[in-house]
Amino acid sequence: MTTYDQFRQRHPTYAATGALDTLRASDYARIDAHKQIYLDYTGGGLHAASQVHEHARMLSEDVLGNPHSANPSSMAMTARVEQTRAAVLEYFNGTGSYTAIFTPNASGALKLVGESYPFAPGGRLLLTADNHNSVNGMREFAQAKGAMLDYAPLTRPDLRIDLPAMESLLAQADAAHANLLAFPAQSNFSGVKHPLTLIETARGRGWHVLLDAAAFVPTNRLDLRALSPDFAVMSFYKMFGYPTGVGCLLVRNETLESLRRPWFGGGTVNFATVQGHMHVLSGGEAGFEDGTLNYLSIPAVEIGLRHLQSVGLETIQTRVHCLTDWLITRLLALRHGNGRPMVRLYGPANMEQRGGTVTLNFYDPEGHLVDYRRIEELASQVNISLRTGCFCNPGAGETAEELTEDDLRAGVAEVGADINLQRFLHFLQHRGGKSAGAIRVSMGLASNFADVERFLAFAESLRDQTALSIGTVSFDIESCRVVRDGG
Ligand SMILES: Cc1ncc(COP(=O)(O)O)c(C=O)c1O
Repeated sequence: MTTYDQFRQRHPTYAATGALDTLRASDYARIDAHKQIYLDYTGGGLHAASQVHEHARMLSEDVLGNPHSANPSSMAMTARVEQTRAAVLEYFNGTGSYTAIFTPNASGALKLVGESYPFAPGGRLLLTADNHNSVNGMREFAQAKGAMLDYAPLTRPDLRIDLPAMESLLAQADAAHANLLAFPAQSNFSGVKHPLTLIETARGRGWHVLLDAAAFVPTNRLDLRALSPDFAVMSFYKMFGYPTGVGCLLVRNETLESLRRPWFGGGTVNFATVQGHMHVLSGGEAGFEDGTLNYLSIPAVEIGLRHLQSVGLETIQTRVHCLTDWLITRLLALRHGNGRPMVRLYGPANMEQRGGTVTLNFYDPEGHLVDYRRIEELASQVNISLRTGCFCNPGAGETAEELTEDDLRAGVAEVGADINLQRFLHFLQHRGGKSAGAIRVSMGLASNFADVERFLAFAESLRDQTALSIGTVSFDIESCRVVRDGG
């Protein structure tokens, strides 16, 4: 029985996702043509060639100018931007109750909320330790305006939100003030899907809720009407690869009223005078879209949404689920010759409420941590694209490695003012072998069984090598065989 037979036996539902293999051979043929093993879908999705062709056709055939004027090329562009806005609202089931604001990316959407949310003394910002830095950064706005900041911790080893702790933090809100909870629907560190029921619970206790959907929406349906978050943010390149440079802030219409922009700029005002020192902000999304939108790219979002819909989110989800289960199971079974495990996984070791993001570190036969930068170097030699570091999510990493406030303060004190991740890592490795970073492998729309098997073959090539003497790895992509040279 081949490993593929074993996989198919363990995952009979994988057979129903065969259309994705056909698509990979056509719309994503460049991956195999370049012998690439792409495992960084949480970093960015890959686009289908057909998306780009359709967009290029539009750009080469239509005369499109800067929107929001009354000339024909401008009106044609305005129509396309508005058509895309309507398609985004429709896709996320928010038509009529949500406003879609185009931003450069998810971080841009988060910054808009951070700077406009009515934080004030007596109010609170509650974050989960598992959050992207662009969510963590919102605390700067909250604290500058005198709001209290709290972090809800995670449980170990699964890195899920500690729900009793979250409950007691939620209970501390004074409903007379503005309180904001922000958490990721899916972790970009561990792949954990956090409970979306938290949205209703928190809103019932007087909180506004911001859902960071950036790592969730590439493989899951976000239904705004069913979940009712006050804010949801995302970057479209994570969903379907192209275009980059366009993200979105989805805001409940009634919550939009409570936001106050700290400035105005081109495109956001109905009226401004120099001598009168007055301005009147535009209503709805226009008051939040600073300057000229990335207007030529925006229609590619509608093309991307159609592409996702035609592939089918359920099909993608099934495929990613099966592949992730296989990857985790096989990685955890890897042993050095002396019986010691080769891999430490961060986050859930099963498929319960988790997506296709798998974060790990390798250990040598003596149990020493292998530097993740060396792994990235070796993986790159065999055309594997994975991601290493802390993935802009320091809280999840700190919890996973049991780094204490003392460790962090000592690190900052020791390394000094020009601290960076490399120097900090060096410090931690000498303080009990802790790691400030890890290796992330993530799957998505165009992933297949061969991608996973090739990564597993790469992982197996590290068997019995010591941390300092890992040599060069040669990898035959056709036969999926690893040839080692060097000690
Ligand atoms: C969960 C999550 N939130 C926010 C972001 C920020 O996205 P962007 O860099 O596109 O602004 C990312 C990007 O990796 C992410 O994974």
